[in-house]
Amino acid sequence: MIKLSPSILAADPLRLAQAAKLALDAKCDELHFDVMDGHFVPNLSFGPHTLKAMKQAFDTVYDVHLMLDNPECFIDSFADAGADIITVHAEVNEFLKSVEKIKAHQLQAGIALKPKTPVSVIRTYLGLIDRVLLMTVEPGFGGQKLIPSVLDKAKELRSLGFDGDIEADGGINGQNAHILAEAGINVLVMGTAFFGADDPTGFAQKVHLI
Ligand code: DX5
Ligand code: ZN
Repeated sequence: MIKLSPSILAADPLRLAQAAKLALDAKCDELHFDVMDGHFVPNLSFGPHTLKAMKQAFDTVYDVHLMLDNPECFIDSFADAGADIITVHAEVNEFLKSVEKIKAHQLQAGIALKPKTPVSVIRTYLGLIDRVLLMTVEPGFGGQKLIPSVLDKAKELRSLGFDGDIEADGGINGQNAHILAEAGINVLVMGTAFFGADDPTGFAQKVHLI
């Protein structure tokens, strides 16, 4: 069953509450919360205070994607703010320390790979995590074009016997979603495609039928 996790980075920043309500009304499975520090990626986005406000108002699964150089410093604050899943990038130093900290909070732990980072970097840690997030664009901005070669990483993960969530993130829409599902991806992050849809609920229903 495909899980849909709309990225609120693509929502109108002045209407985040309406965006969260739209996602819940459309029966989306999670809300994808992109956190950027202006160092790991050349952009800035949301902090734990925004997550806390959203969690208090909208009860759903918060899928927090930390695009931070020092994620370990922020695990506690995002866990306390209400994160359910926290994903850190394999490209940062000592990412395993962050994974251990996430698990100590009894949250689901994920590792994210940029498009050019091979699965081999995390192969020995697959048994420790609940989710692999495969960036299908260079992280930092929504509205980019999906990089198809990343699909091979999903196939590789499944061939290694990884049976956790494989999440794809970036450039995903109604036209390419089925190709991702065929590659073994079961969580789709959609920002532009979901919040830009004429009928987000109808769009989400179609995605859930893939
Ligand atoms: C980019 C973020 C993605 C992005 C997805 O760094 O991690 O979640 O917001 O946006 P779309 O779906 O618009 O490509
Ligand atoms: Zn993301």
